[in-house]
Amino acid sequence: MPMKHYFISLFIGCSLLTTVVHAQPVALNKQLQPIVIQGALPVESERMAAKLSHAKVETVAGWTFWKGSYQGYPVIISKTRMGMSNSAAATAIAIERYQPIAIINQGTSGGHDPQLKVYDIVLGAYSTNISAFKTPNKALGEGSNALQWTQAFDVLPEDEFDPEPIAQRKFAGDQGLLVAAHQVKPNYRKGRVVEGTIGSADTWNNELDRIAFFHKTYNTSVEEMEAASVAQIASQYKVPFLGIRILSNNITNGGAYDAGTGEACQDFALDVAVEYMKSKSAALR
Ligand code: 5AD
Repeated sequence: MPMKHYFISLFIGCSLLTTVVHAQPVALNKQLQPIVIQGALPVESERMAAKLSHAKVETVAGWTFWKGSYQGYPVIISKTRMGMSNSAAATAIAIERYQPIAIINQGTSGGHDPQLKVYDIVLGAYSTNISAFKTPNKALGEGSNALQWTQAFDVLPEDEFDPEPIAQRKFAGDQGLLVAAHQVKPNYRKGRVVEGTIGSADTWNNELDRIAFFHKTYNTSVEEMEAASVAQIASQYKVPFLGIRILSNNITNGGAYDAGTGEACQDFALDVAVEYMKSKSAALR
C-alpha cells in the first residue's frame, strides 16, 4: 500500500475507534435509572402505583414493587411495610435490583413542632434515629426514665472498634432532591412545605414531655418509623435520598389524625420525583 493511502486508512481507523469509544457511554447514559418512591402502608403507596403507566408488580418476600413510568420517567413505587427493619430491607432490595438514581421515602408522621399543622409537609433536611441510646446506670428497683436518656448511640460510627460510640447521627437530605422539592412547592395547596428534621423509631410517642425532649435535643419537626433507616442504607450505597413527611397528626397542638394526608403526600412526592428526573434528563443532553 502506498504511504499516503496507509496514513489515510490509519486516520479513518483511529476516527472510527474514537467514535466507538466515545459513543458508547453517551448511548448508555441516555437511559435514566429509575427513581424509587417508598411508602410504608397501602394508604401511602397505592395511589402512586395506580398512576404508573405500564406497571409491572414484582414481589420479593414480603415487599411489593411496582415498576413502570410516570410522565415518561422510569419510576418504582415500593411498599416497604412499617418500621425500621422493613424499610431497611426494602431499600437494600430496591438498590440491588433496580440501581435507582435516587430514593424518596415519603408518608405520614406525627408533629413534634407545635407550629406545624396536619397537612403541612416536612422536607427532611436531616433524618435521624430517635431510638438509639446508651441509658444511664440504674440498680434493680430504681426504675426507668426515658427523659434521662441523654446519650445517643451511633449505630454507624467512623470507628468501628469503639464499642460504645456516643453521638447523634443525622443523615442529610440530598441537595438535588431538596432543590426539586422546593421547585414544586407552589403546586401544593393543602398546607405549608418546610425543611426540618425527621425523627425515626419503631415507637409511636404519645408522651408530650418525651416529644418535647426530642424536639429540643434532636430538633425534630416530626416523628415516624422509616426515614432514618432508609437514609442509613442509602448513605452506605451512596444513593441520593430524601425523606418527605406529611403531618397526619400533631398532639402538641391538638391536630387530630386525618387519613387523607397519605394521599396528599403521595401526590406531592410524585411531583418532586418528576421535577428531579427532569433536571437529571436535562443534564444528559
Ligand atoms: N408516630 C410514629 N409513626 C407515625 N406514623 C404516622 N404518625 C406517626 C406517629 N405519630 C407512620 C409511621 C408508620 C405508621 C404507624 O405511620 O411511619 O409507618
